[in-house]
Amino acid sequence: MDYSKCAISGETEVYAVIGDPIGHTLSPAIQNAAFHSAQINAVYVPFRVRKPDLKDAVRGMRALGVKGFNVTIPHKVEIIRQLDRIDHAAEDIGSVNTVLNNDGLLCGYNTDGLGALKSLEAAGARLNDQSILLFGAGGASRAIAHSIAKHARTIKIANRTVSKAKQLQRRLQRTFKTLDVAAVGLSSESIRDFVQEADIIANASSMGHDGLVDPPIEQSCLHPSQFVLDIVYKPIKTKLLTIAQEAGATTINGLQMLVNQGACSFEIWTGKKAPIDAMHDAIREKLLV
Ligand code: ATR
Repeated sequence: MDYSKCAISGETEVYAVIGDPIGHTLSPAIQNAAFHSAQINAVYVPFRVRKPDLKDAVRGMRALGVKGFNVTIPHKVEIIRQLDRIDHAAEDIGSVNTVLNNDGLLCGYNTDGLGALKSLEAAGARLNDQSILLFGAGGASRAIAHSIAKHARTIKIANRTVSKAKQLQRRLQRTFKTLDVAAVGLSSESIRDFVQEADIIANASSMGHDGLVDPPIEQSCLHPSQFVLDIVYKPIKTKLLTIAQEAGATTINGLQMLVNQGACSFEIWTGKKAPIDAMHDAIREKLLV
């Protein structure tokens, strides 16, 4: 049955994404394609929820029996207080982007970092005992750092505001006691050695987004054995990914990350393997890429 096209019935399950703004979200395209491909009778809809309305929105989710929802800016931290359970990793990260309604119990997860791991694995990266260079110290960086820290040998955090990098460093050291973590600013001198030594370089900052500065990486420091990923997807091929590809490194763009993060949410909600290809196709069709 074609559930995506007017096949909504009394048994159709509802999933959602809440945020503000929400008009730009690509998640409905990705998740509805996944439900359709997996032949699950469900729809996924966006709701603009303003900050003061979060509590009521979550009560509404409970009352209406919404099966699961994604949470985006600005609610990823505040949502925690509205939930019944929080997964350990999401608790460590301090934010939630996926909620599962488990027979009335709302459970929070964070798939931002899991999406990065899934993307790296799909690209053929080894995760164990690797040296990671991470740009950024905000929510996305926290999620990626916590997910990758379980496997990594070293993590270097480079951020415009060094105090925030140090905060993330302390947070990681508290949870992963034996991990070697460093925090530095963004000058190209301070990070040159880190770039050369890194097995995996991840830009989890806004750098490289349309109109913003690029991460200060010299192409000569990049090499073919590296994996370089970027959470930015506007543009899809950032300057960082362009120079990394030219240097022979394996690259992972922001759309791949977005799809894999959505795939992790889908798997939490349905217990089924996500139809990744259909999800990728949906986003390509939506963005005409
Ligand atoms: P998210 O939840 O997407 O991670 P965030 O928490 O606002 O968003 O974090 C954005 C990250 O991008 C931060 O690390 C920020 O650096 P600061 O901690 O110094 O603010 C980084 N960032 C944003 N704009 C930047 C710019 N123009 N140059 C360098 N870093 C930038």
